[in-house]
Parts: sequence; C-alpha cells; structure tokens
Amino acid sequence: METVLSITNLTKKFGRLTAVNNINLEVKRGQVFGMLGPNGSGKTTTLGMLMSVVNPTAGAFSWFGELPSNQVRKKIGAVLEHPIFYPYLSGQKNLELNAMIKECPPENIPNVLELVELTERKDDKYKTYSLGMKQRLAIASALLNDPTVLILDEPTNGLDPMGIAEIRELIKKIAANGKTIILASHLLDEVQKVCSHFAILKRGNLIHTGPVADASKGTETIEVHADVEGLNELLLNFGGTSSIARENGYYQVSLRDSFNSKDLNRFLFEHGVVADHLVTKRKSLEKMFLEILAEANH
Ligand SMILES: Nc1ncnc2c1ncn2[C@@H]1O[C@H](COP(=O)(O)OP(=O)(O)O)[C@@H](O)[C@H]1O
Ligand SMILES: [Mg+2]
Repeated sequence: METVLSITNLTKKFGRLTAVNNINLEVKRGQVFGMLGPNGSGKTTTLGMLMSVVNPTAGAFSWFGELPSNQVRKKIGAVLEHPIFYPYLSGQKNLELNAMIKECPPENIPNVLELVELTERKDDKYKTYSLGMKQRLAIASALLNDPTVLILDEPTNGLDPMGIAEIRELIKKIAANGKTIILASHLLDEVQKVCSHFAILKRGNLIHTGPVADASKGTETIEVHADVEGLNELLLNFGGTSSIARENGYYQVSLRDSFNSKDLNRFLFEHGVVADHLVTKRKSLEKMFLEILAEANH
C-alpha cells in the first residue's frame, strides 16, 4: 500500500519541555489514522509540524515520499484550531472567500456543502449555526481543494452527543470516498469508532501503533527484550505480530490469534537473536490507555 506520510525521529522541544520525543510513524493511503493521547501528550504539536506551522527541533517527515513544500501541502486539507469564519456572512459566502484564498475553483462549493449536509442552510449567516454545523463548515472548507489527506485535530471537542455522532459519521463518509484521514483525539471511543489504525502518545512518546481491530481483541502480548540492534524491525517481520508497543524498556508484542510465545521465541532464535527476557502477558490496549489517562490526570 502506498505510504502517504512517513515520520522519522521527529522531535519538538519548547525550551526544556520535550513536547514530541523522537517519534516514528507511517500512514498508508486509505487509512483513518488516529493519534490518541491525553491532553498535553503532543498531538497538536505533531500535527502543527506536519502542516509546517511548527518547526521541528529534530527529525523529518515526508508526504507522498516528498519533502514538505507548498506544492505538497496543497494535497492536504486541515482543520487545526478554530477556523476563522465571518459571523455575519453565510456559509456559502464564507466558503467562496476561502476558495478564493486557497485558489481553488468555486465549482467545488456545492459538492462540499452537500457532503457535510449544509446545502439547505448555506445561505444562513454563520453566527446562526450550531457548533456542529460550524465544525462541518470547517471540514467543508478543508475539502475545497479536494485534498488527498484530511487532518483533523479533536474534531468533536465541545459538541453535544448529536453533533459528535454527526461528525463521526461524516468522517467515515469522507474516508469511504477514498481520502486518507489523520485525526488527533483524547477520546479512546472516538478512535475505536472511526479509525482503522492508531498510535498512542504519552508525554510526547509514541508508545504503540497498530490496527484498531487488533487492539480490541484480547490477544496474547509478549514482553520481549534482547540486546541487539534492529529488534523493532525483526519483531515487525515476524508473521505472528499484529502490533508492537514499547514500554518500560521492553517491546510489547501483540500476537495474531494462532501464534504464541514459542513461535516468537523460535523465530527470534532462527534469526540469531537470543531474548534475555520473554514473558507472556495479556493486556488489552484499552486497559493500557486507561492507565495512561489515569497517570496523566495525577
Ligand atoms: N507554543 C508552545 N510553547 C510552549 N509549550 C507548548 C507550546 N505548544 C505546546 N506546548 C506544550 O507541549 C506539550 C504538548 O502540547 P500539545 O501538542 O498541545 O498536546 P495535545 O494536543 O496532545 O494536547 C504540552 O505540555 C504543552 O503545554
Ligand atoms: Mg491538542
């Protein structure tokens, strides 16, 4: 599958605070990729770097295999902070202004309005919109230039349950239309409901990445340590690996259904690696995330 985004050793420091610590990540075409983490874990900072509004302290990333440039950024639509719309102008007029600024054809406006289900309200003033409608208009605006990737930061923050459900449905619809979506959220259930893949950030560290489907399964997790280079890659190459997390200096390898610790041990041994620590654990990601949240709230 085509790689849309590749992040290598990306780091951002604000003075003494490391907001994003040496993260590595890949997003493939068609994924709905969730960056899950409690408040302050570095999600918005990461998205800011990916959109070139925050300068990385170290590391790099590429979009579609290319270094960031204005040209490449045209393929990315983003709803980052609260977007600025004119309260006394209609949704339609606001989109016309945005289309002009972004130099994209105004013919796209009816399509994006239809997609976010605002066609009927397009001539009403922005200030009369509900929060959910405002968020939908922001998404419409981000889609004006028909980007390949859509980036959303906490897309349901502040919305009522109805608005939340609408936005989640909309995200699924946009994904079904073939767009790759990257979203940041502090809500586990949001990521579970709308994402295909996800990563967990904890105080700027990426501690897990993998498919959402595997995370909800109560699969066997093996805690592994071996004093060799490239253990991460080797573990990923093992056919029984469904996902890998790094915690307390150990790799936590979640296994696919029909695999067990013996299979993993044999695989490592056959590749010349003798593990000095190999312990079977069962711990769902849900539990892990709740523990992280509890810690963050201290
Ligand atoms: N411009 C900034 N200057 C100083 N510290 C910042 C700045 N932006 C973010 N931070 C800090 O970086 C950390 C990560 O923040 P952020 O990326 O906003 O996390 P999240 O989006 O996951 O809530 C926090 O500790 C936050 O206070
Ligand atoms: Mg944030």
